[in-house]
Amino acid sequence: MSGTALPSLVSTVPGPKSHAWVDRLSQVECPAITARRARRAVQIGATDTDPVVWSEAVGQNVTDVDGNVFVDLTAGFGVAAVGHRNPTVIAAVKAQCEVLVHAMGDAFPDPRRIELMEALARRTGLARVILGSSGSDAIDAAVKTAVVATGRHRIIAFDGGYHGLAFGPLATLGYLGHTMRQPFQRLLGTHVTWAPFGGVLPDASTLSEVAAVLVEPIQGRGGMREPPDGWLVQLHAAAQAAGALVIHDEIYSGCGRTGRFLASELQPDLLCLGKALGGGFPVSACLGTAAAMDAWGASTGAAIHTQTFLGHPVGCAAALATLGELDRLTPIAATTGAVLAAALRQVPGVSKVTGRGMMLGVHVKGALQVTHDLLDRGYIVLPCGERAEALGLTPPYGLTAAQAQGFVAALADVLQWQR
Ligand SMILES: Cc1ncc(COP(=O)(O)O)c(C=O)c1O
Repeated sequence: MSGTALPSLVSTVPGPKSHAWVDRLSQVECPAITARRARRAVQIGATDTDPVVWSEAVGQNVTDVDGNVFVDLTAGFGVAAVGHRNPTVIAAVKAQCEVLVHAMGDAFPDPRRIELMEALARRTGLARVILGSSGSDAIDAAVKTAVVATGRHRIIAFDGGYHGLAFGPLATLGYLGHTMRQPFQRLLGTHVTWAPFGGVLPDASTLSEVAAVLVEPIQGRGGMREPPDGWLVQLHAAAQAAGALVIHDEIYSGCGRTGRFLASELQPDLLCLGKALGGGFPVSACLGTAAAMDAWGASTGAAIHTQTFLGHPVGCAAALATLGELDRLTPIAATTGAVLAAALRQVPGVSKVTGRGMMLGVHVKGALQVTHDLLDRGYIVLPCGERAEALGLTPPYGLTAAQAQGFVAALADVLQWQR
């Protein structure tokens, strides 16, 4: 299979083999994870809440353990931007596996780690890099850097913002923060001031105590929401005037998703990348200006920020290959995304389409149920927004015209039955 196929369903969705695997999963996995998603589906009256169990993926296609072929409009949480199992990325990974799989974090570097950081610095104009494995790692690194650089301890975060669920980012979580933060609230500190995304900016006296403003230029999980024109510029100006740093979380919106390498043209003090960066391998990066990063100072002993897998050679090789593929595919993301958005706006029952490029929020009634109905037709999508008010589309950039048209037709069909 080349990854450009239309859906092909050979069993019920999910099929008997998926059910059997999910039975095993439910015996062994903490119920906070996949089972919790199923409970959410029960709330909307879904009759079959088991997920399909993935066994293979290539390009835009995912095949489940029953042999059903789907078109993945999520790119697996935005990760497979250059396509699942992109051949160039896989070749680079295989070559790296032949020579060096693991180096030693901060202690002993390897060439791929250095080349990746150089490539990222060239691309973004931000001189210094801290690598990580997850988006949460990059946010941790950015928040810690802002504290070290400013000597201040407060963070401004926004409603609807999502930055990961490790303790550092969890404290800054706007998206469903009341439920996700609540059990841990007493451990999360009181250092975050909340502000409305796209709304009134924090005043100068609030900002004067702030180490960093942490913002997604386009909110992803929060609903593919863009702030009003000019808002981000004003936010930068206000932060700069108060000596607060600006952190752009482009973990979702970056790596070409909006049709440019970064969604925002503004230069932040600190920038977080993840998800698509590793082409399917867990790699993230926090980039910063020399002024911000050099505040960490010269080492006076053990590294005070590192990880066992920091700069993992295979991950770095994957990311380097991914950057090359992004150069080729990002312009396609811009045009395919625009055509897809225009087609979706014509579908009866779609009230609006938000976002840009291959990062689209399709507002429909009962979006959660619609995701189930689309899966039944062979299209994988996720809901987004705090009230699950939209379908979040973040497909691989190689989505073909036929796959896009097939999806639009399937959505029209689902929404027609709904009315
Ligand atoms: C904007 C944004 N920031 C950070 C994260 C956290 O990344 P991870 O789940 O890899 O820790 C996510 C994950 O969805 C995200 O969308």
